[in-house]
Amino acid sequence: MSAEVYAIASGKGGTGKTTVSINLGVSLAGLGTRVIVIDADIAMPNVGLLLGEDKINKTYHDYIAGHSSIEEIIYEGPGGLKFIPGSLTLDNIAEIDTTRVVELIDYLKHRFDFILIDTAPGISRETAVVLESADNTFLVVNPEISSVVDSLKIKVYVEMKERSIKGIILNRTNIYQIHSPSEIDESEDEIPDEDIKNILESSIYGRVPEDRIIKKASFQRVPAVLLEPSANASVFFKSIASKIAGYEYDFEYQQKVSDKSSLLKKIISLFSIRKNKNENKN
Ligand SMILES: Nc1ncnc2c1ncn2[C@@H]1O[C@H](COP(=O)(O)OP(=O)(O)O)[C@@H](O)[C@H]1O
Ligand SMILES: [Mg+2]
Repeated sequence: MSAEVYAIASGKGGTGKTTVSINLGVSLAGLGTRVIVIDADIAMPNVGLLLGEDKINKTYHDYIAGHSSIEEIIYEGPGGLKFIPGSLTLDNIAEIDTTRVVELIDYLKHRFDFILIDTAPGISRETAVVLESADNTFLVVNPEISSVVDSLKIKVYVEMKERSIKGIILNRTNIYQIHSPSEIDESEDEIPDEDIKNILESSIYGRVPEDRIIKKASFQRVPAVLLEPSANASVFFKSIASKIAGYEYDFEYQQKVSDKSSLLKKIISLFSIRKNKNENKN
């Protein structure tokens, strides 16, 4: 068994790469898979911060610099997730050693089902290494023309290196339909899906609504899908994770769950992802 390795990338910062990485990570772990999120963003490493980890000693960057072993940089996150934090100081940022990144991914591939790598925006040397090492890349894009165009260079780079774009994760959208993600109304406020697909020549793999739960979750340092499993954004994160893992997600069931009391809501929603055939897996 070898893990599926996904880079989570975007052309510019602030599109939601870290939010997507940790929420998909926890959702995939909730499905019973072995998942690790790696924080490969040197400039803004905040995976550890958002997962509520206060005792970070060795990091991804210490490992890259040859200052620590792989075992030392793996941490237990919430909801069964494992993670490798990035370094908050600049002291140990050495020249990126490509071989060490490749060795790290090889090691993890044998121990996990999914490896999600949160990257720095754009194509710096550190991100390039990740894009080359991952089999697939998700482009995290906001529904604005600049965000879409900025991600084009990532897509071109990934394909130049003969890797694949798994698809676009359209984050912070106001156009979504909770009952069925396929019934989406076009609106004049957001760039149409067709334009996004045409510019990036990639499909929209999933969409995540603009939701205040994300701010609350980052303040409380708990991933949104755990803090409020039935919040809009959480529901969509879980549906994307289900698609990645090859499960079918019951949107209507989730909607009914949101009318129930909070504790019950949490319990039901944790178990409402129903296993189905692997036909969705692409
Ligand atoms: N779906 C969303 N709804 C509301 N706010 C969001 C959403 N996704 C991200 N944000 C906010 O946008 C900002 C950038 O998100 P972050 O995940 O840190 O982006 P990146 O890692 O790409 O720089 C954060 O303040 C985050 O809380
Ligand atoms: Mg980030």
